[in-house]
Amino acid sequence: IMANMKDGLQLGQDEADTKSLFGSQGKSLPVSKSMDSGIQSDESYKMDYPEIGICIIINNKNFHPATAKGMAFRSGTDADAAHIRDTFMTLGYKVNLNNDRTCKQMVDILQNVAKDDHSNQSSFVCVLLSHGEDGLIYGTDGPLELKILTGLFRGDRCKSLAGKPKLFFFQACRGTELDSGIETDSRSEESTCQKIPVEADFLYAYSTAPVGYYSWRNSSEGSWFIQSLCLMLKQHAKKLELMQILTRVNRKVAEYSSYSNHPDFHAKKQIPCIVSMLTKELYFPH
Ligand SMILES: *[C@@H]1O[C@H](CO)[C@@H](O)[C@H](O)[C@H]1NC(C)=O
Ligand SMILES: *[C@@H]1O[C@H](CO)[C@@H](O)[C@H](O)[C@H]1NC(C)=O
Repeated sequence: IMANMKDGLQLGQDEADTKSLFGSQGKSLPVSKSMDSGIQSDESYKMDYPEIGICIIINNKNFHPATAKGMAFRSGTDADAAHIRDTFMTLGYKVNLNNDRTCKQMVDILQNVAKDDHSNQSSFVCVLLSHGEDGLIYGTDGPLELKILTGLFRGDRCKSLAGKPKLFFFQACRGTELDSGIETDSRSEESTCQKIPVEADFLYAYSTAPVGYYSWRNSSEGSWFIQSLCLMLKQHAKKLELMQILTRVNRKVAEYSSYSNHPDFHAKKQIPCIVSMLTKELYFPH
């Protein structure tokens, strides 16, 4: 603690910035350039484990009539699922696509993945396509708290992913309010005895901002968010940092405007929301 405080006092924000600029021997190349030459900076996640990781997709389209207010059929979601599958397969992920799962099945799927040994993997990706509301995602039989799913991958519960990036993408209406209560990890498997907060290294990318916005889906093309995410990953995954890519996704989605015969639903906008607990930059490997 003393050392940290001392650093904090000595290195103001400006000095820290200067230091990182001179990190690459005075050449102020973008980090992507220094990655080209094979230099791994500690400021980016190590993405060269033998495997890049697993991508779990849960695609819920048909809902039990008994769900509250009978949740509507989600047309266009299969286009999203196929698009996501292709995009992450191209990036090298082992993709596992699951259609129409109940809450219990969703928990079981993710629990099994969280129990696996990810020591040889660089990262983990989960994409949930469903109906949602504040902090909730719908199984085909009803709502489930998002944090029950994401919590399975906390640093203290899934040690082989501790310190590695865990990316969650939610295409749903208003999924928000994840609890981010910080606890400290006991000890991660990897070398360092450094403690990391259990909620660290998560990224939650929501299709829409926290409150009051719809998340739009084109019934033939899929949702604006997933279409934009796939397009931006396809165009930029090999050169831009993840947050830069997601900023481009925000802009792309913001360009859309809804078309509907119903005036209340016409000409509406959407903006995604990125909640990052990542501690490093993330460059997908070439
Ligand atoms: C990780 O890779 C090594 C070397 O290829 C292999 O021996 C080991 O079984 C792998 N571990 C897991 C959990 O897959
Ligand atoms: C859905 O996307 C197609 C192709 O971009 C477009 O022609 C169509 O107008 C869109 N439908 C709606 C309702 O926005």
